[in-house]
Amino acid sequence: MAATRGRPGASATAKEPAEAAPAPVAAPAKREPAEGAPAPVAAPAKREPAEGAPAPVAAPAKEEPAEAAPAPVAAPAKREPPRTMRDLRLATESRRRAAAPKPMENPLREGLRLERVPDPAAFVLFGATGDLAHRKVIPALFQLWRTHLLPHEFTIVAVGRRPYTDEAFRSEIKESLDAFSRVQPVDQETWDDLASRIVYHQGDFADNGTYQRLSERLEQLDETCGTRGNRIFYLATQPSAFAEIVAGLGRVGLDHERRDGGWRRVVIEKPFGHDLDSAVVLNREVGKVFRERQVYRIDHYLGKETVRNLLVFRFGNGIFEPIWNRRHIDHVQITVAESIGIEGRGAFYEETGASRDFLQNHLLQLLSLVAMEPPATFEADALRDEKVKVIRAIPEMTREQVAHDVVRGQYGPGWVSAKPVKGYREEPSVNPASETETYVAARLTIDDWRWSGVPFYLRMGKRLPKRATEIAIQFKEVPHQLFKDSASDPEPNLLAMRIQPDEGIMLRFGAKVPGLGVDVRNVTMDFTYGSAFSVDSPDAYETLILDALLGDASLFTRADEVEEAWSIVDPIIEAWSEQTVPDFPNYEAGTWGPEAADDLLAREGRRWRRI
Ligand code: BG6
Repeated sequence: MAATRGRPGASATAKEPAEAAPAPVAAPAKREPAEGAPAPVAAPAKREPAEGAPAPVAAPAKEEPAEAAPAPVAAPAKREPPRTMRDLRLATESRRRAAAPKPMENPLREGLRLERVPDPAAFVLFGATGDLAHRKVIPALFQLWRTHLLPHEFTIVAVGRRPYTDEAFRSEIKESLDAFSRVQPVDQETWDDLASRIVYHQGDFADNGTYQRLSERLEQLDETCGTRGNRIFYLATQPSAFAEIVAGLGRVGLDHERRDGGWRRVVIEKPFGHDLDSAVVLNREVGKVFRERQVYRIDHYLGKETVRNLLVFRFGNGIFEPIWNRRHIDHVQITVAESIGIEGRGAFYEETGASRDFLQNHLLQLLSLVAMEPPATFEADALRDEKVKVIRAIPEMTREQVAHDVVRGQYGPGWVSAKPVKGYREEPSVNPASETETYVAARLTIDDWRWSGVPFYLRMGKRLPKRATEIAIQFKEVPHQLFKDSASDPEPNLLAMRIQPDEGIMLRFGAKVPGLGVDVRNVTMDFTYGSAFSVDSPDAYETLILDALLGDASLFTRADEVEEAWSIVDPIIEAWSEQTVPDFPNYEAGTWGPEAADDLLAREGRRWRRI
């Protein structure tokens, strides 16, 4: 195994040239956003203003000359290259200021990102009749549509095996929207507008004809809908179909970007592979058809607003970074607790378990964002280079370490939210003697200068008492205790980042209890999204789909990242296959997991934070 760590994945990516921007398309003037400036979307009256995005503002026709910037130069091509560092700084500063958001009408939205509208495009959704498409992808597209974040020249080509007429498919989608749309009720006029852009394309993924006909249909749609050859292929199918679909697209040339414009991208859902070997094979198969810059691998946790805020919190503020290291931090806890069970996905879960379903992706992604070095820029590869360095710095575990530092659990029957629930082994499509874990906790370390000696405790479990995702940064004790006579025991500082629900950040510190003596007690400072910004956060899928359409891959995982993450999880699964399985079920539904998980921390004088 050791030999596989750090190898340059099936598709080495960091060195790829920047995406060859397709030739600019002459979009209708009113929709073309000024670079870095708000998209002056002349929206049809019936579509509502972008939620979570600043109220549309009329973008000034020209960039304003920046203060202290060199006199405006008519043709940028003739601009003198900066000769000194100062020139460079001034030039950058002037561009930054010119691109800065213009004054907005709604003060509550001040400072929020101004959204760009993507190029005209066809969104080809494979697995369109499946659960993911109905619950997540289409509701996200609808939300983007109703808030004017999709181009007018947009079409959804829904690909599935089952036969449907366009009308029948649209009405089935409408039912799902009524159930799953983030904003209710679903506005009929807005829906009709989007529905008229949805077509159904029936075909078997193994059949060449499916792709040939798809290609012809997309050409026609370019003519009728003005989608200009831009296509995004979204694979929301069973993972076993990913390679087959990609190969099918490649056979008919649907991956080829055209010289006259027309980009092609593929979005691939998780799980990406079942272990390291299968992930390498899948990366290789995808790499035979698409270049890495065309591939967008989804880990939807990266699209969550609070997860994105982690980067802002760490790198947009000056006071945290100097203490974000082994000198000040005692340990880090990352918890993903779910009160739900496996929700009818017994067959899937039997094959995955918590380590493949969560540890390999969501948990390691959260860890890499907490632990990464500041990237030089927020370009996709700069960011992903730093994340992958963190995962590479986690030492692979030996079998003994797995036995010592990783705990697995499986829930038995119990009570959640005052209702009786079945044990995992009684769930439909689950083997009554199943050895699949529904809980995993691990103690990991990161062998680099910043984190050496700081344990990262990660845990994830199904059927825990509540739904809560949290990252807790536990700071060290003060070096010298001045208030040891205090009536209460002052605890070291703690920073808790609540990813969901009740999104926010809490800082715990000691304060003097009012009175004549000196009594120090813990108090908290709390930031909550709900009260600080009176806007709803977008769903992760809205963010990710919009980013993929805009060609921004920062929130998508790269080939090497996925492989490195598997090389952490593979040795754990291999070691488990050789060890005696714990006495499953080893935790009752509605409790905080197996006792062994508490021991993991207790033996080092620590305990899981009560959430
Ligand atoms: C998915 C897992 O990736 O994430 C599910 O396969 C899990 O098992 C889900 O329930 C959790 O997502 P969220 O956004 O509800 O935290």
